[in-house]
Amino acid sequence: MKVSASFLSIKDNIKSNINVLDKSTIDYLHLDIMDGNFVQNKTFNIDEIRDLLSDTTKPKDVHLMVNNIKKYIDDFSILNPEYITFHFEATYDSEEIIEYIKSKNIKVGISIKPNTSIESIISFLPLIDLVLIMSVEPGMGGQTFIEEVVSKIDTLKELREDNKDYNYVIEVDGGINDETIKLCSNADIIVVGSFITDSNNYQEQIDKLK
Ligand code: DX5
Ligand code: ZN
Repeated sequence: MKVSASFLSIKDNIKSNINVLDKSTIDYLHLDIMDGNFVQNKTFNIDEIRDLLSDTTKPKDVHLMVNNIKKYIDDFSILNPEYITFHFEATYDSEEIIEYIKSKNIKVGISIKPNTSIESIISFLPLIDLVLIMSVEPGMGGQTFIEEVVSKIDTLKELREDNKDYNYVIEVDGGINDETIKLCSNADIIVVGSFITDSNNYQEQIDKLK
């Protein structure tokens, strides 16, 4: 199981703390991008992010919690991330967004909020590289893991086993710590923010997860 670390909850010495995170054994840096419309919170813009991440080397996992998805794809594709993930709930034309991200030669992820069903994205499964299951309502770090989403992780794994043209990885995001991780055994990547970054020894926390 891979770890994608979110730095959303880091509030001071942000750049130096991101560099500590980048030198740890995490597999991805998870970039939570919020526009203040799709979710209430608004995070750093691309220029601020480029400066904050200028010394990092880990592959990037961009999580767009935005309504104007194409604009943010244009902005953040310059980081050449491994994944760009958008929210199913933010568009009426997921297929167009999927193609748009693919046209940038970037892997495509689709994310669903806790109350959104797997059925709503079933037709996109053959087209995408990643499904991001939100285990909290998107918009902020430090929330409590919603256990009801676990069945969606398990369903996605079964569907992938039954369909040879489904090649997505399963990622889970929100409220993950050394306890709730036990519920996510069928996930391929877990996103962890505050459990790591609220501590004063990031690697020690990461070791508890592996
Ligand atoms: C929430 C973000 C998550 C969050 C995870 O909207 O998408 O990535 O930062 O942070 P924790 O692990 O603190 O829930
Ligand atoms: Zn996220």
